[in-house]
Amino acid sequence: MPKFKEQSPASISKITQLLSEQDSIDEQLQCLTETLQLTEENVSLRFLVCSLLRDIAGAYFPECIIRPFGSSVNSFGKLGCDVDMILDLNGIYATSQKKGSALSLEYQVKRGASERAVTQSILSVIGKCVDQFGPGCVGVQNILQARCPLVRFAHQPTGFQCDLTANNRVAMKSSELLFLYGQLDPRVRHLVFSVRCWARAHSITSSIPGAWITNFSLTLLVVFFLQQRNPPILPTLDQLKELAGPSDKCVIEGNDCTIVSDLRKITLQQNTDTLEELLQEFFEFYGNFPFNKASINIRKGKEQTKPETTALYIQNPFETTLNISKNVNATQLERFVALCRESAWLLQQKEILKQSSDSPWGFAALLLPSVTSGAGVKSRRKRKLEPASSRIKNLLDSLKIKGGETVAEKGSTNARR
Ligand code: UTP
Ligand code: MG
Repeated sequence: MPKFKEQSPASISKITQLLSEQDSIDEQLQCLTETLQLTEENVSLRFLVCSLLRDIAGAYFPECIIRPFGSSVNSFGKLGCDVDMILDLNGIYATSQKKGSALSLEYQVKRGASERAVTQSILSVIGKCVDQFGPGCVGVQNILQARCPLVRFAHQPTGFQCDLTANNRVAMKSSELLFLYGQLDPRVRHLVFSVRCWARAHSITSSIPGAWITNFSLTLLVVFFLQQRNPPILPTLDQLKELAGPSDKCVIEGNDCTIVSDLRKITLQQNTDTLEELLQEFFEFYGNFPFNKASINIRKGKEQTKPETTALYIQNPFETTLNISKNVNATQLERFVALCRESAWLLQQKEILKQSSDSPWGFAALLLPSVTSGAGVKSRRKRKLEPASSRIKNLLDSLKIKGGETVAEKGSTNARR
């Protein structure tokens, strides 16, 4: 099985070719996950970079641990994804308290200017060390004013982009939650990988920070969708909390982050939806979701009234007053919705496209460029005046030739629903 390090146009074209050789959409999605997922070797390298950083940070904080979180460990990581790391100083808290020192770090943190200021100064010191002495660490940036302060750098020997944070236990807990969801049913990972890959191919997501939807948001959109199936494929976060035992109890900065850790306690309902059905319905669901008034809430597993006017509202699973997609603007949301509709329609044309030996079909057809992918460089007004995507037009023409007027016209009505 070939492995693709990054989702460059060349690798997307190779993926498209590989997928078109599969016999069904279900096989395509399984093949995609196998091709893009992190290898064991790649995960080991990620842990190695954490341990390198621990050696540097250990000069100041001898008991510290650097732990990976996010897509490196939550089972949704694609080759080329960044390494999110957290500096865990708990070791120091424990030692200082055991020795009975009045000047434990925890004491200083509580009495200091603010916990945030302490986090910033710790990261600033480590950032300087990484810059000066980190072997192979280049391009170090201290991004200390962010909501979650971080040190960003590239580790040249492995090619990883790394983000080091501190005091970020809630994010660690969300990684645990996503890992749990990924383990409950294999369809979860296949769907998340497909949606992430589709979104990247159309520049719905980007590695550059901005008004784009993030991979974390996309994953929660998939989780929420799977909670809506009948019967549901995934339990709600409240259900995971109800199943928790006393040792699972977890409160972080006043947020109840309790979830069951023993997967055997979770009883799943019998849902036999195929991956093809799920993918199709995912696009139809979000192509028609009332984003203007409703928010996505995986804790309740139900849409809720939107508490604020941001374009997209996805409640943070554990810090429930926060919206994880606050950065997304109306243009980006419109592109997402338009692409969902277009992709739902393209999937419906599977049989006709499959018969043509030269055109990608099924999921592969969804990775082809679309008119909406140019949205970043075109004004909204201009796009509204444009004719339908040339891709759609070409397909419609070929459908008219191959499948007759009726199929093509029925499809085009669905696409513009
Ligand atoms: P990332 O944005 O790096 O996402 O946040 P990711 O899941 O690792 O995906 P890629 O592959 O890098 O794009 C890292 C983790 O931080 C937590 C989530 O656990 C996420 O997986 N996080 C992120 C939050 O808890 N809240 C947020 O608003 C964003
Ligand atoms: Mg990440």
